[in-house]
Amino acid sequence: MSDFSIAVRAFAKINIGLKIGRLRPDRFHELRTVYQAIALHDVVRVDVQPGSGIEIRSDNPRVPLDESNTCYRIAERVLQAVRQGLKPSPAMGPDGTAEAVPLQGKVLIEIEKRLPVQGGLGAASSNGVATMFGLERAFAVKLSAEHRQRIAAEVGSDLPLFLIGGTVLGTGRGEQVHPLPDLPVTHLVVVTPSVGVSTPAAFRRWDEIAAREAELTGADAAGTIRECGQSVFHWPIFSQAVSASEPASGVPAVGGDRAETLLLDLVRTGIENDFERVVFPEYPELREVKRVLEREGARYASLSGSGSTLYGLFASSKEARAAAERMITAGHAAVATTTLTRAEYWQQMFVSN
Ligand code: C5P
Repeated sequence: MSDFSIAVRAFAKINIGLKIGRLRPDRFHELRTVYQAIALHDVVRVDVQPGSGIEIRSDNPRVPLDESNTCYRIAERVLQAVRQGLKPSPAMGPDGTAEAVPLQGKVLIEIEKRLPVQGGLGAASSNGVATMFGLERAFAVKLSAEHRQRIAAEVGSDLPLFLIGGTVLGTGRGEQVHPLPDLPVTHLVVVTPSVGVSTPAAFRRWDEIAAREAELTGADAAGTIRECGQSVFHWPIFSQAVSASEPASGVPAVGGDRAETLLLDLVRTGIENDFERVVFPEYPELREVKRVLEREGARYASLSGSGSTLYGLFASSKEARAAAERMITAGHAAVATTTLTRAEYWQQMFVSN
């Protein structure tokens, strides 16, 4: 690993509820979701060396190493910003004097894959944002928040959430992100079935079902948008967000009874991921995993994004670990982990050398 000077943890996300709205003229779907960062992660290493170009390496053969990789697309854009005259902030050498940081060079990116590819955990998107942070450090530059958001949204709908971390409300096509107060730290079991689900294909299937339902019921697209917009704001996490008077980072930690109440609220409100309606009929084994999580004691279980990852929220770390162990014994790729607060997300992002 001596080639790489900077290592960044690219954390995964889960979706706690996901509502799909209308198909927009730009061929994206309107959606509402709550993204939640979790402690599982890949590691992205970056370095700038003499030469030019962008080279990607990975220990996983399923990761594309060409221009289609989100890390490549982010690196291209960060390099362009750097070339267009972004001023480097002086990097301090060990003796306290400012070091000259070359604003050119060959960008080397190594992706250590621990998260599933096409898994609904946002891994590729998170890898892309980790590359952005790594390169900012390598070039000793800082993009503005607006510039970061523009680049991230250009590369994919799921990238901007990783510029915030913790609990995040996603609107628009998922790229408009709003920090929410941290949810209480919650223990969960994440199951990663080996099947990969294509997100564009899942959206297409959703359109087919919506068109059929509209024909049968006479429902119009506007009704769907209204439903999408309204139901989501009845979620307890939103009322919590709206009533929060302190900024997100200043919200005191809550746990115990409060965490339990929130989990039960989630169940009562019937928060759902719309993708389950199209993904489960095609992959019945995923519906079965959700049932197993519920049987194992999950207070709430769901598909994450368009899958194929599923997760279950548990009342304690002990319960989550015991459930994961039993599921592993039964042949599931299960792991117990926790949600990450926004502060933890930022504190743990850079791997210290
Ligand atoms: O933005 P991203 O690259 O993740 O989108 C991949 C594809 O998923 C899009 O080209 C589109 O077909 C579909 N998509 C969508 N509505 C969204 C997000 C993605 O239809 N809100």
